[in-house]
Amino acid sequence: MIQNFDYHTPTRVIFGKGVVDQLPTVLRPLGKRVLLTYGGGSIKRTGLYQKVIELTKEFEIVELSGIEPNPKYNPSVLDGVKLCKEHNIDMILSVGGGSVLDCSKAIAAGAKYDGDPWDLIIYKVKTNDALPIVDIMTLAATGSEYDAGGVISRTETNDKVAYIDPHLYPVCSFLDPTYTFTVNAKHTAAGVADAFNHVLEQYFCAHHNMVADGFCETLLRTLIHYAPTAIAHPDDYQARAEIMYTCMYGCNGILELGNSPSGWPMHSIEHALSAYYDITHGEGLAIITPRWMRHILSDRTLERFVSLGTNLYGIDRNLPPMEIAEQTIERTYKFFESIGLPMHLRQVGIDESRINEMAHHIAAEGLDNPDNRYVALSEAEIAQILTNSL
Ligand code: NZQ
Ligand code: ZN
Repeated sequence: MIQNFDYHTPTRVIFGKGVVDQLPTVLRPLGKRVLLTYGGGSIKRTGLYQKVIELTKEFEIVELSGIEPNPKYNPSVLDGVKLCKEHNIDMILSVGGGSVLDCSKAIAAGAKYDGDPWDLIIYKVKTNDALPIVDIMTLAATGSEYDAGGVISRTETNDKVAYIDPHLYPVCSFLDPTYTFTVNAKHTAAGVADAFNHVLEQYFCAHHNMVADGFCETLLRTLIHYAPTAIAHPDDYQARAEIMYTCMYGCNGILELGNSPSGWPMHSIEHALSAYYDITHGEGLAIITPRWMRHILSDRTLERFVSLGTNLYGIDRNLPPMEIAEQTIERTYKFFESIGLPMHLRQVGIDESRINEMAHHIAAEGLDNPDNRYVALSEAEIAQILTNSL
C-alpha cells in the first residue's frame, strides 16, 4: 500500500549553461558578508574562482579553501565556524563538489550555535538555525545540492556521520553542467556510482509504488546511457547535463515518496570504509553494491530484483525469477566495471585486517533493527559482506 507522506524541498535550483551570471541577484537579499568555501584548487584551475570573484565584487568576501574530499570536522568545519563568527558572516557560498557543500552545511549550522558544532552533527543538540547557503556545483554525484544532508568525517574516532536537518537545505543551487567538463574519469565514474546507489537504496524497500519505481528506473537508465559518453567525451554537454540532472534527485526523498524506508545500509557500510581508509565514496559504493545485493537476495526480496532486472536491464521475464535476480546483480557489477570503477576492496587499499573493527562500528548504527530496515544486518553479516568485497 502507498504510504502517507509530507514533502517539501525549499531549494531553488537554477540549471543550465551560463546560469551562474544570476549569482548577484540571488545573493543580494541574503546580506553583504559572504564566506566563500572551496576545495583543493580545482576551481582556480578551471577559472570558475575568478568568475565568482568578479560576480561578487559588491560583497565582502572571506575565504575558506582546502576543504578535503570526505570533509573533515577538524580543521575544515571548525575553521569555517570560527571565520563566520569572527567576520559576522551573513551567508555561505559553496563552490565545488559535494564535500565542499557538505562542509558548508555543517559550518552554516555551527555558526549559529554557541557550543561545539559536533553536538549538532550527532544530534546531541537540536539544530535551530543555520546561515543561508548558496552553492555552485562542479561535480555531479551526491545530490547535496537538493537535500538537507551533509556527511562529516572525524579522523581521530574513525567516524563519518550523516547530518540531516531541514535547516541545511541550500537556499539556491546553481547547476551548470559545463563546470563538470573538467571532472576526471575517476570522479565522473564515482559520481555515477554514487547516484546509482542512491536510487537502489530507495528502490529496495518493503512497500513501494509504481510512480517511485518508474522514477528510479528512469534515473538508472539515464546513468547507464550517458556515463560512457561523459567519460569518453568529458565536454559532451548532453551527457554531463543528463547526469547532473539525475544526480540532484538522489537524496532529497523524492524517490521514496509513498515507500516504506529502506535504511540506506550500503551507505552505512561505505561511510565506514571512507572513514577508516579515506577512499572515494562512489568507489566504495560500487564495490559494496553487488555484494550487498547478493547477500539480501531471498524469496522475500526476489520481487525487487525481478522488477529491476526486467524493467531496467530488459532481462527476459520468462526466465525463472532467481535466474533474473542473478543476472540483475551481474549486470549491475558489469556496468560499474565497464566505466572503470574498482570492484574489489584490495584495489582501493583495503585488506581484511580491520574488517571486524569496521563491522562493529557499522553495526552500532542499528543496521540489525528490522523495524526501520528492509533487510536487517547483524554485525557478522556486515563483516561477511565486507569479506565478500575483498
Ligand atoms: O577539492 P577540489 O580541488 O575542488 O577537487 C575535487 C576533489 O578532489 C574534484 N573536483 C570537484 N569538481 C571538479 C573537480 N575536479 C575537476 N573539475 C571539477 N569541476 O573532485 C574531487 C572529489 O570531490 P568531492 O566533493 O569529494 O566529491 P563528491 O561530490 O562526490 O562528494 C563526496 C562527499 O559527499 C558525501 C560523500 O560521503 C563524500 O564525503 N555524500 C554526501 C551526500 C549528501 N550530502 O547528500 C550523500 C552522499 O551519499 C555522500 O555520502
Ligand atoms: Zn552516496
